[in-house]
Amino acid sequence: MKHQQLTLMALLSIVLGFVACSRSRVAEPYRSVYHHTPAANWMNDPNGMFYDETTQLWHLYYQHNPFGATWGPMHWGHATSADLLHWQEHPIVLYPDSIGTIFSGSCIIDRENTAGFGENAIVAVYTQSEVCGQHQSIAYSTDGGYTFTKYEGNPVLKGDVPDFRDPKISRDGDHWLMTLACGQEIRFYASENLKDWTYLSSFGEGYGAHGGVWECPELLCFDNTKMSKPEASEQETAEPKWVLLVSINPGGPFGGSATQYFVGDWDGKTFTCIDAPDAQKWLDYGRDNYSTFTFHNAPDNRFVAMGWMSNWQYAQVLPTEPFRSQNTVARDFSLFVDDEGQYRLASVPSVETQALRGQVTEKLSDAAVVELELDGKQDALITLANDKGEKVVMTLDVHRQTFSMDRTASGDCSFSHDFASHTVAPLFIKRDCYHVTLFIDHCSIEAFDKEGAWSMTNLVFPSQPYNHISVEGGKVTIYDIKK
Ligand code: FRU
Repeated sequence: MKHQQLTLMALLSIVLGFVACSRSRVAEPYRSVYHHTPAANWMNDPNGMFYDETTQLWHLYYQHNPFGATWGPMHWGHATSADLLHWQEHPIVLYPDSIGTIFSGSCIIDRENTAGFGENAIVAVYTQSEVCGQHQSIAYSTDGGYTFTKYEGNPVLKGDVPDFRDPKISRDGDHWLMTLACGQEIRFYASENLKDWTYLSSFGEGYGAHGGVWECPELLCFDNTKMSKPEASEQETAEPKWVLLVSINPGGPFGGSATQYFVGDWDGKTFTCIDAPDAQKWLDYGRDNYSTFTFHNAPDNRFVAMGWMSNWQYAQVLPTEPFRSQNTVARDFSLFVDDEGQYRLASVPSVETQALRGQVTEKLSDAAVVELELDGKQDALITLANDKGEKVVMTLDVHRQTFSMDRTASGDCSFSHDFASHTVAPLFIKRDCYHVTLFIDHCSIEAFDKEGAWSMTNLVFPSQPYNHISVEGGKVTIYDIKK
């Protein structure tokens, strides 16, 4: 019976998927122009992202409910892009089955056929969720990621705690490493063939923020090429450092969901954190960057990342039907040392986003990239506003060494009392002049320190696009978007 229901559900979701792909986009004022959005219905975490060097396409899968614009039975939706800015939607690739619905996970290219599904098969490792628990399953694609076949031996790793999910697979020496969220800690497992997994160790007790469940982890190795500071000579001798990304919900610094990270060492078995146990390091100082993962196989060994641009506190009531949610612009990660001697993760907009910039213009329109040059000796005030008086106010406070964004008067905040907010980022590095880049799209503002010392991602729902920008304490350059 359960089987029949799930087969019916799968058929219905195939039909709905085709309808969604062919639907024309009319009168959707909050449809982003250069951020990925699903054609219709619900999306949360980006999943299984990888870059295919033969086709030069970026593949993005995502948590998707094809039955409506709120969270429901999860599938993997699929989109590809040649430039990380324009996305083409494809049919759903993974449907719920008798083991459960399809939660978050990752993909790798199995170049040496370690799993036996064929050389260069794309293998997806993902969570299946059912009433009684969560388990890890695998599926493979031999057509470059457009269709997947589920492994008949699923699940490959059965859960022993209620929250047991979001496997991120990476290569560690001669084997595969799975980084998995389990309650409020992260577990590491190793495998030769992606099918048999051996427990290695756990990390998390007593470290970082624990205001909610831990989700969507990823372990990244930063060698010399990915350290932007210390200065060049020291860089050459610096030992690699490892960063463990962990999304947490709730328990973020401004309420709801956010992504924290830990810096440490990895000896092939255990992650040893070098941050103080009570330190809290945040990937982004806005409210709307969650479940961040990097693309497997990105060119030049880069860490190209994308996050879900929303927050579980209000994600399901955002005024954007018939679709809900968007992903952040792609960001590249590196590691630097701040003025206090702390290792921190830097996020800068990926180089691909340069292609967005059109003409320099005087007037702000519905989407733009804005460069700010702010004098480091005096406070700066940046205001985006529309003719209705709705506004977003940003402040560079040189005394407190912070950048902040106030969206309390940004437009529609009525759908959730948790939405109106004021977010604050530490600057981390004192400078004579601060270069800040703003990515403005129909319902989002992403602010970046030019060198990535901090970033801030916030959604906004103005009733008309912001068409004025004023800057006190600095200079502004506005670029039109090349659509
Ligand atoms: C994070 C998350 C994941 C889970 C998925 C379910 O946003 O809760 O932990 O796999 O969403 O949709």
